[in-house]
Amino acid sequence: MRNIAIFASGSGTNAENITRYFTNSENVKVALVLSNNRNVGVHERVNKLGVPSFVFSRDEFAAGTPILEKLAEYDVCFIVLAGFMNKISDVILRAFPGKIVNIHPALLPRYGGKGMYGMHVHEAVVKAGEKESGITIHYVNERYDEGGIIFQASCPVLPSDTPEEVANKVHALEYKHYPCVIERLLLTD
Ligand code: GAR
Repeated sequence: MRNIAIFASGSGTNAENITRYFTNSENVKVALVLSNNRNVGVHERVNKLGVPSFVFSRDEFAAGTPILEKLAEYDVCFIVLAGFMNKISDVILRAFPGKIVNIHPALLPRYGGKGMYGMHVHEAVVKAGEKESGITIHYVNERYDEGGIIFQASCPVLPSDTPEEVANKVHALEYKHYPCVIERLLLTD
């Protein structure tokens, strides 16, 4: 069994979707969820599916070691970022080389980098009059949204689309592809 951890900062619809996908898997298990926020939806979403979630402080995250201890306790071999809004510290990166992936709600390298997250991305895409947007699943390195790209999928953006409508299309792509890409990475590793 390959145990994975999901890091999430907000509502956690991706975390829930990934957890559901692997519920009956014989190979992959979502062992725990870690978050920098206590009052966000991800806890209830995964707890009701039997997955424990933990909150870490800014200091614990910066130090890295308390996070690594928690990951070791659950025998975690792979980390999935799903709506996680903090930069992963060097301590964690060094402990999981090539074993941390993120999903970004746009077609990187466009609309990435610091400050480009969640609805900010969709607002920028609509404002620029883009004809398409999409998702990028990539490895995580020490710079925001710059790790090697693993997978991209696109969706049309219509002139009449609001940022919320683009977000819905992008979320649909995330739900469809992220669990399968994670599974492929784990099973071909
Ligand atoms: C997702 O769309 C994810 O791609 C995005 O935040 C949303 C989280 O939704 N991540 C980023 O913007 C990271 N830069 P969720 O909490 O419902 O899964």
